[in-house]
Amino acid sequence: MKVLLGVSGGIAAFKAPEIVRSLRRKGHAVRCSMTRSAGAFVTPLTLEVLSQYPVYREEYLQPDNNGDELHISAARWADVFCVAPATCNTLARLALGLADDFLATTALAFTGDLLVAPAMTSEMWEKEAVQAHVTTLLARGVTLIGPVVGPLATGETAMGRMADPDEIVTAIEATAKGGDLEGRTVLITAGPTHEPLDPVRFLSNRSSGKMGFSLAVEAASRGARTLLVSGPVSLPTPRGVERFDVTTAAEMADVVDRLAQEAEVVIMAAAVADFTPRSTSETKLKKGAGPPRMSLVATPDILTRLQEIAPNTLRVGFAAETGNLESEARRKLVDKRAHLIVANDVSRSDIGFGSENNEVTVFRAGKPPLTIPLQAKRLVAARLLDLIRQELDGGEPGMDTAGG
Ligand code: C5P
Repeated sequence: MKVLLGVSGGIAAFKAPEIVRSLRRKGHAVRCSMTRSAGAFVTPLTLEVLSQYPVYREEYLQPDNNGDELHISAARWADVFCVAPATCNTLARLALGLADDFLATTALAFTGDLLVAPAMTSEMWEKEAVQAHVTTLLARGVTLIGPVVGPLATGETAMGRMADPDEIVTAIEATAKGGDLEGRTVLITAGPTHEPLDPVRFLSNRSSGKMGFSLAVEAASRGARTLLVSGPVSLPTPRGVERFDVTTAAEMADVVDRLAQEAEVVIMAAAVADFTPRSTSETKLKKGAGPPRMSLVATPDILTRLQEIAPNTLRVGFAAETGNLESEARRKLVDKRAHLIVANDVSRSDIGFGSENNEVTVFRAGKPPLTIPLQAKRLVAARLLDLIRQELDGGEPGMDTAGG
C-alpha cells in the first residue's frame, strides 16, 4: 500500500517516525508531508531517512521533474492519506477546504481514503468549533482515529491524546481491506422526536443524535447499506448514508416498520418519546386561557413491535438511564425482545446526551455485560459494530473492548 503521512505541528509529532517505521516494516511505501510548525517537533531528515523519500514541505508547491505539480502527483500516488497528528488548526483547514500549504492542498487534490488522528488538550478537543469541524469531516467520510483518554503533554490524564502509532497503523491497513459490513443493510434511528402540543410547542428530550449519526458514519464506512431515520437534529447527512427525516414517534414508527423489511440489523439509538399529547391544538394555545390541561397517551414501542414486523432482524436498543443501569437494561432486553441493549448513564455530564463522548455497557441474553470505556462516540460506534458483526456471524462469546 502507498501511504502519504501528513504531520502537523503538535507534540505528538514526535511519534510520526514510529508510524513511518512501523508501516515500512509491514512492507508499505510511505511518503511524508509536514506543515511548517511540525518542523519544531520532528526533523524532516528523520522522516526522510525512515521513509527513504524526500519530505514534502510547505514550500514544495512547485512542478516535479515530469512537470506535474507536486501536490497533484503526491495525491495521485497515495492509496491512503493519514494526517497524524492532526492539530485543531489542521482539522479546521481540512474541514474548510483551505489550500494554504502542501498538506492541505494535497488533501484537496486527494480522492482516496483520508484518515485523521487528532491530538490536542481536552479543552481544545471539546470546543464547539473543533467538534463542528470533526463532524463535517466525518460526514464527508473521513476516518477518525482517536483521540483517546491518556496522559497529555500538560501532565494530566484526559481526552485528547493521539491514538497509539500501532492503532494508527492498524486503522490505515483496515482502510485498504474494505468494509466488513459489505453486503449488509443496517437501519439506524437517531435523535429525539417532537410531539406537538400546538403549531409552535412540542414535547421532546435532550438527544442530539450524535450517537446514532456516529453509528451511521461507521456502518457506511464499513461498506453497509446504511438507512438512517432521524428525528429533528442539526447534523449533516453522513456520506453514503440514505437519510429519512421524521418528526414524531408515530412517523418514526411508520418509516422504521417499512425500512426494517430490507434490513438485517436495526439499531434504535433514537430517544423516542414514550408519550405524546392525546390531541394537538390546531391553533397556538393562548396564555390568557391559563395553563392547558394536558392529556398524554403512550406512543407505539417501535423496537418491541419489530419482533413481529421484522422477526429476522438483529435488534439493538439503547437504554438511557439515571439509575439502576443494569436492572433497567436487563428488563428492557426482555421486554423489548432485543438481542442487545446498549446502556448509558445520562446523569453523568461527561457522557450521553449532547456530549461528544460516551461510555456504554452492552447487555446480551445469557452473556456477561461488556463495558466500552469512555471515548469519542465514533469510536464507541466502531466497538458496537464490531460486536454486532460478531452477533451476525454467529455470536462468539466475549470480546476485548478494553482498548481504545
Ligand atoms: O423504554 P425506553 O424509552 O427507555 O427504551 C429505549 C429504547 O427503546 C431505545 O432503543 C428507543 O429507541 C426504543 N424506543 C422505541 N419506541 C418507543 C420508545 C423507545 O423503539 N416508543
